[in-house]
Amino acid sequence: MPLFALLFLFIAFTLGPTLGRDWPVYHGDHAATHYSPLAQIHRGNVAELQPTWIFETDRSGTLQCNPLVIGRTVYLVDQDLRLHAVDGRHGNALWRFDPPERLRGVCRGVTFWQSADRTERRLFYVAGSYLYAIDPNHGRSISSFGVEGRIDLREQLDTEETKHSVTCNTPGIVFRDLIIMGSRVGEGPQQAAPGHVRAFDVRTGKRRWIFHTIPHPGEFGYETWPPDAWKTVGGANSWGGLTLDVDRGMVFFGTGSPSYDHYGGNRVGTNLFGNCVMALQAETGAYVWHYQVVHHDLWDYDIPCQPNLVTVTHDGKTIDAVAQSTKMGHLFLLDRETGRPLFPVEERPVPPSTIPGEASWPTQPFPTKPPPYAVQQFTEDDITQRTPEATASVRAFIQSKDLLLGDLFLPPGIQPSVVMPQFNGGGEWGGAGYNPETGWLFVNASNEPEWQSMVPAKPQGATTQGALGKQLYHAICAQCHGNKAARPEGSPPLPALETVRDRLTPPQVSEILEKGRGQMPSFTSLSAAERSAIVAYLFGEGTDERVPSEALTSNWYETIPYVCTGHHDFRDPDGFPVNQPPWGTLTAINLHEGSLAWQIPLGTYPALEEQGSPPTGTFTIGGPLVTAGGLVFIGATMDERFHAYDQSNGELLWEFQMEAGGYASPSTYAIDGRQYILIAAGGAGKPGTKAGNRYYCFALPKG
Ligand code: HEC
Repeated sequence: MPLFALLFLFIAFTLGPTLGRDWPVYHGDHAATHYSPLAQIHRGNVAELQPTWIFETDRSGTLQCNPLVIGRTVYLVDQDLRLHAVDGRHGNALWRFDPPERLRGVCRGVTFWQSADRTERRLFYVAGSYLYAIDPNHGRSISSFGVEGRIDLREQLDTEETKHSVTCNTPGIVFRDLIIMGSRVGEGPQQAAPGHVRAFDVRTGKRRWIFHTIPHPGEFGYETWPPDAWKTVGGANSWGGLTLDVDRGMVFFGTGSPSYDHYGGNRVGTNLFGNCVMALQAETGAYVWHYQVVHHDLWDYDIPCQPNLVTVTHDGKTIDAVAQSTKMGHLFLLDRETGRPLFPVEERPVPPSTIPGEASWPTQPFPTKPPPYAVQQFTEDDITQRTPEATASVRAFIQSKDLLLGDLFLPPGIQPSVVMPQFNGGGEWGGAGYNPETGWLFVNASNEPEWQSMVPAKPQGATTQGALGKQLYHAICAQCHGNKAARPEGSPPLPALETVRDRLTPPQVSEILEKGRGQMPSFTSLSAAERSAIVAYLFGEGTDERVPSEALTSNWYETIPYVCTGHHDFRDPDGFPVNQPPWGTLTAINLHEGSLAWQIPLGTYPALEEQGSPPTGTFTIGGPLVTAGGLVFIGATMDERFHAYDQSNGELLWEFQMEAGGYASPSTYAIDGRQYILIAAGGAGKPGTKAGNRYYCFALPKG
């Protein structure tokens, strides 16, 4: 073949069939740049942007999907985990795939695969416990894949065949004829599946490799755990997505903390490969390198998003690297081939745990560059100054709780302590966007403290049903179902149990606890008395009845003797955060220099704005879109606005008030020469925020 033909093939292959007009991969491309070379919409005309179509889902509720666009078709998921194909020009529905089970939840995206000769095409996505292969032409599942078109993610984990909860909110990534999948698993003191990463054959669904994120005997990293931990400890899962260096044949992902999130006496050690940036060979799953960003996690500081593949000028050399943003607000910049940090990382001492049996790690890694992009402490000096009443009330609350204040990595203890950044970041699953032309990274963050405390898992002495039920609920159920004060990542995907009494009877709930249902695991490891206590708590019945300590027979108290009372949000009397703004930010990071190019408050509270306050920033959920038009598009804020900022200086150039918050990363694409910007706006990101049912698509007016 002549050289120019080879070159053409190379360009066609690497840039995709439509040279940036599609959005064929979650977050834009295999490098998770969130970047598009489209530049029709740019700094000079973005102010004219208008909604051009709206797609309405049947039900309101949080949407986190970053839609794919292939050719003229948009693929997106709704609150019932149904997959829709929609015409990208006017939003008309083309087809819909309904999973056979009735489900609710969040799905952050879909994976597209086509064979090298383009004759075969498939979509992959997860609903409930299953990975589905769907035909993009008509939306039916492909029956030759797995069993009847799907595979059960709870199986083939090289563990005793259990039915612990395994699902995946974030799409897998395709390498040749493999789909590589992470997972979301339980994080509680009980029944958490291991978070092993697996590759499946795109045609048959057959498992082709597995990488044990909790190493088995004889495997590298095994010695960072007690000998039997691989059988009993779960988690260390990759729930934030993967990236791929096609030329090097390497796959990258971050992992979460081992389960249980807040007590690690049963997992003494650094716990590899929990909280690691990982690099594997994509073809075989063989280990290449790891870099641990939190040792022996006690805070739920999972790596929440894909590592970005970037190229930087460093010490006069061009280096392919991996940039990992984190919940802590640390950005780790690592050599792509070796995992070695490009800027020095210091192991700094952190306060030790005072919980009996706990073995907190004495140091944690702190990158020297770039500076953190989130606030990493909450002290007396950081208390809100919004009004004298707010300051006094927050002070009084801190005193009443005897709340321990301080820096990042205060370990959980019996004495309540502040966690800053909180478990929802700092940075989160929205990840960072990257402009390959400038080498700048764009990342949003939240700056709201939470507090936590630990209690003995086994109630001391005799207790009442109500007290026991409440404790068990917060220790075990709340990690999936949430509570009024704080909800886990991807929330609120699950039925809120506060209102379960309106839907079910106590015997029905008892039965669900005994047998499980769909993604809901069974809880037969709890004693009958313990299950009854939870039901009593949920229904507020018979809660004063005493439970003798002999009835508390389940044995998990021995492995997890202390549990967390929950992730507690706390606010001033008017509902604003207890610290000083900015409560949410957008930051541009110059990766060549390891410096913050600019940082602005992201979002505002209209009530404060009316009083003349400058933008304070708000909590943020969802990530950015970066375009060659010099823009950063982002929803994410509690004011429910969609924004476009100037990449060079953070100036707000356009914003649009949506019906509900856009807690998702936007996509962009072009059809017939017209550029579109698409974002999901399901709202309901935080308690008290509005729910919506729209995908908004924007374009310039037809000229
Ligand atoms: C690993 C995550 C997880 C944990 C832990 C968990 N659940 Fe669930 N639960 C679910 C999911 C998912 C559903 C939805 C199941 C379905 O219908 O497919 C559910 C559904 C339920 C329902 C039915 C609600 C309705 O309105 O239909 C009840 C009741 C329930 N759970 C109670 C509990 C209790 C009590 C606990 C603590 C002992 C608990 N769950 C712990 C995941 C979890």
